[in-house]
Amino acid sequence: MNAGPPPGALRLSARELAPAWPASCAASDSEIIAALCEPRARISPKYFYDAAGSALFERITRLPEYYPTRTERAIMTLAAGELRQQLGAGATVIELGAGSCEKARLLCDLIQPRAYLAVDISADFLGQAVAGLRCALPGVEVRSLVADIEDEVTLPADLGGGQRLVFYPGSSIGNFDPEPAAALLASMRRLAAAGGLALIGVDLIKERSLLEAAYNDAAGITARFNLNALAHLNRLIGSDFDRRQWRHLAFFNAARSRIEMHLQATVDARVCWRGGERSFRRGECIHTENSYKYTIEHFGRMLERAGFRERLWWTDQRRWFALFLARA
Ligand code: AVJ
Repeated sequence: MNAGPPPGALRLSARELAPAWPASCAASDSEIIAALCEPRARISPKYFYDAAGSALFERITRLPEYYPTRTERAIMTLAAGELRQQLGAGATVIELGAGSCEKARLLCDLIQPRAYLAVDISADFLGQAVAGLRCALPGVEVRSLVADIEDEVTLPADLGGGQRLVFYPGSSIGNFDPEPAAALLASMRRLAAAGGLALIGVDLIKERSLLEAAYNDAAGITARFNLNALAHLNRLIGSDFDRRQWRHLAFFNAARSRIEMHLQATVDARVCWRGGERSFRRGECIHTENSYKYTIEHFGRMLERAGFRERLWWTDQRRWFALFLARA
């Protein structure tokens, strides 16, 4: 077993880009290994996002079956006027899980903030994205912070005043189980600070066939995205996962209102890593992701319980996706 990071090492999980060391230094090997050794093995979905995984995710967002990204964009355009009104001038946008910063371009075009801070766990991808954004938005002070949003995020001290808008698009909140989701919403309310706003994308419950198609695309990109987590883990913990022994599974668990993604062993497999190993029987699964789907009413109540005072929402005509704006 691995000893894990020295005490205090977790404090390094939030830092500004610049003198870069791999983001994976912040991740704890022992946490990854413990999850692999549970009776029902797990890999946290945050390990999808190495450079290759982040690029695959960008391809997912453009797939015909994957409706969330394009639906959310359309809703944002619809909501722009109201957003500008609520925010006023000189605002600072803080985007959690910024990825390619593609949505930031649209949001900044729509609301013209003074500053934009991209927070993401993947340093490789973020540096590039932020550089692109600086060119595209010369009027906006663009900054980045490498951090795991599951930990309390510490904002740079010189972030500046003005109204804050904490932006968490794409329905990434869906990755969190009910309790951690509530905790994250509460931490977003603190980040927004009194009077600030949170803008959150939420995927809605819909017909099973539509949900399942979005996570089982015909081109197989989601399967590659899921399997890529094994390659990422091999680098992080020195494991020897052979991706040819695993297959992508994704289905809607209606009882828990979530899409589940798993990697299923197609043969009896033995996986070794520095200081340990585990055997998997053929058919056994590693749970890699949950993507919770909500009703508008349910998510509104979660925002209320997290302490947000006012809540507005927009949706598309088919009610496939919702964008919530909440005041801290
Ligand atoms: C980034 C968590 C919103 O759950 O739809 C896409 C990730 N996984 N296809 C989602 C994902 C498989 C995505 N989120």
